Amino acid sequence: MGTVKCVGILTSGGDAPGMNAAIRAVTRAAIYNGLRVKGIYRGYRGLITGEIIEFKSQNVSNIIQLGGTILKTARCKEFTTPEGRQTAYETMQKEGIDALVVIGGDGSLTGARIFAQEHNVPCIGLPGTIDNDLYGTDTTIGYDTALNTILEAVDKIRDTATSHDRLFFVEVMGRDAGFLALNGAIASGAEAAIIPEFSTEVDQLEEFIKNGFRKTKNSSIVIVAESELTGGAMHYAERVKNEYPGYDVRVTILGHLQRGGSPSAHDRILASRLGAAAIDAIMEDQRNVMIGIENDEIVYVPFTKAIKNDKPIKKELVNVLRELSI
Ligand code: F6P
Repeated sequence: MGTVKCVGILTSGGDAPGMNAAIRAVTRAAIYNGLRVKGIYRGYRGLITGEIIEFKSQNVSNIIQLGGTILKTARCKEFTTPEGRQTAYETMQKEGIDALVVIGGDGSLTGARIFAQEHNVPCIGLPGTIDNDLYGTDTTIGYDTALNTILEAVDKIRDTATSHDRLFFVEVMGRDAGFLALNGAIASGAEAAIIPEFSTEVDQLEEFIKNGFRKTKNSSIVIVAESELTGGAMHYAERVKNEYPGYDVRVTILGHLQRGGSPSAHDRILASRLGAAAIDAIMEDQRNVMIGIENDEIVYVPFTKAIKNDKPIKKELVNVLRELSI
């Protein structure tokens, strides 16, 4: 039986659809197992300022379908300093919180890892980011919904691309990961994806032109992952304008609309399973692990692995896109 009596829960970094489903799952699973739960507002900032309230089961009613996060979120600079983390630790003691569940991406889990090490606090991470860039889990909370948002947008853009015989560069999020761009391209039937993982290996624009744009098609959609490594959609549109002046080029940057909206069934189920598993882990006295899902099984991934290792992009997906876009 675990030693933890009261769990604090927070969301941190970029919001992702399904975070609320995860908050609900952690809260209800904790109460079911006889633990108290405290909701910490605005990520690590709330841990520093003490913006915390006790959560009962009713506090998480009617939220499974909501995008964003009812706990709010922030990227907290102060928590990156030892002084900020010391204040956070003191708040935890004052509030009687003896374990933390952190829902967020790699920056948030890095914060949890350092905090756990420095103050010997049990921390459990849940992968909550649309970017899908955490090692040790097949998908992250929010990724599926964001992918579906991209599809909806690209389907609409295709109507215009086809009607005008245009080449569209559509920029999607992902920070330095190409999962949204590559799988978004496959699922929307786009002609190519430009992703950071291959930006130093090949000139992806040259490949796309060489591989036959205009041999069989009058319009095309290329999905570009935002990243300093790719240079983004504007960069490629400019290049085409200069290097291939015959093309009628347009750019759409999907931006933050990819982060909003009601979570898909996949994300709600994923968040519910991971949230319940976070409490199982706490009851087993696990600490400093991210809960992931691999081959439909719950796995515990040490923070160091989840954060430090790069999650690889499957070459097979690149080939599928190339073969099917002729
Ligand atoms: O990590 C999620 C994410 O949406 C990235 O894809 C993107 O680069 C970043 O957050 C944008 O952050 P912000 O909302 O702070 O501009």
